[in-house]
Amino acid sequence: MAVWLFGLSVLGAVHSVGAEQLKDPLQTVEQNCLSCHQSGAGNAPRPQNHGDWRSLLEEYTLEQLVDHAWDGRGRMPARGFCRDCTYEDIEQAVLYMIPQRLLQDSSDD
Ligand code: HEC
Repeated sequence: MAVWLFGLSVLGAVHSVGAEQLKDPLQTVEQNCLSCHQSGAGNAPRPQNHGDWRSLLEEYTLEQLVDHAWDGRGRMPARGFCRDCTYEDIEQAVLYMIPQRLLQDSSDD
């Protein structure tokens, strides 16, 4: 539940703080993430793929996954190809790739 609320509050923030220069998560993902994540090359979790993300969310919290995308982990390069992304942009991109249903299901912490 905590994870779900976290996701919701983040999504809410995009709409309410229009003044801040958050990128459009769709564009961030298309331009900086899909070249690897679309095909799942190198074990990259595929966008909206239930199984790929479920196993990650069983192992890590959403916050940890965002940190991995930000700092890099294994073959995941820090921030993907997005040199000028803020932490919030990366967070939005990760949320964009995870199926909504999983964000709602993960009630373990
Ligand atoms: C150069 C290829 C590449 C790009 C670009 C890329 N990724 Fe990844 N990503 C990977 C690979 C490969 C993995 C699997 C890493 C592993 O298991 O070692 C991964 C894993 C992840 C994970 C799961 C982290 C974990 O704990 O295993 C997240 C979240 C993620 N990427 C987010 C993103 C986001 C957001 C972007 C765009 C801003 C992005 N990635 C761009 C290759 C890429």
